[in-house]
Amino acid sequence: MKNLVVLVSGSGSNLQRILDTIQSGEIKDAQVSLVVADRECYGLERANNAGIEHKLIKRGKDFCNQLEEILPENTDLIVLAGFLSVMTEDFCNHWAGKIVNIHPSLLPKYGGKGMWGMHVHNAVKNAGETTTGATVHFVTPGVDEGEVILQQETAIHADDTPEAIAEKVHQIEYQIFPKAIQKVLEKI
Ligand code: GAR
Repeated sequence: MKNLVVLVSGSGSNLQRILDTIQSGEIKDAQVSLVVADRECYGLERANNAGIEHKLIKRGKDFCNQLEEILPENTDLIVLAGFLSVMTEDFCNHWAGKIVNIHPSLLPKYGGKGMWGMHVHNAVKNAGETTTGATVHFVTPGVDEGEVILQQETAIHADDTPEAIAEKVHQIEYQIFPKAIQKVLEKI
């Protein structure tokens, strides 16, 4: 049984998708042993509703040290599922190959510091892009620069609002995130 620790900052719909696909067997032989948030958010409530241990560690420069202290010893994979703090270089190096993130664009486009959530979709819309998508990648010290595990694109129509783009991207995320997690777990 593989043990996942999931980090969240927002609504946690990707966390929910992970829980649902563990349940359905798309992600095999795994469990979420801990959910950690860096702020009050609905993701914590989802963990609570699912009966999963959950902790709030306030965002700030000590976040990674505090996280390291409470990580279960048997943690196999750390999953950033809509998590908005930047991990320290030490933490990224310590967990190299065992920490993944989902990003709401076709990286390397629209990545890096400041590019998260609706900022990404607004920038994509303003640039007049005809496609966007989502990327699951390994986390390394360079923000959104780690090796891509899975990426999938979706078309943007001229009349799509940034909110409509966000919804399309979420649907792509729900498809690729379980697949990417399963792919990484098979190699751990
Ligand atoms: C997702 O779209 C995810 O890609 C994005 O936040 C959203 C969280 O949604 N992550 C980032 O922007 C990280 N740079 P959720 O809380 O419903 O899963």
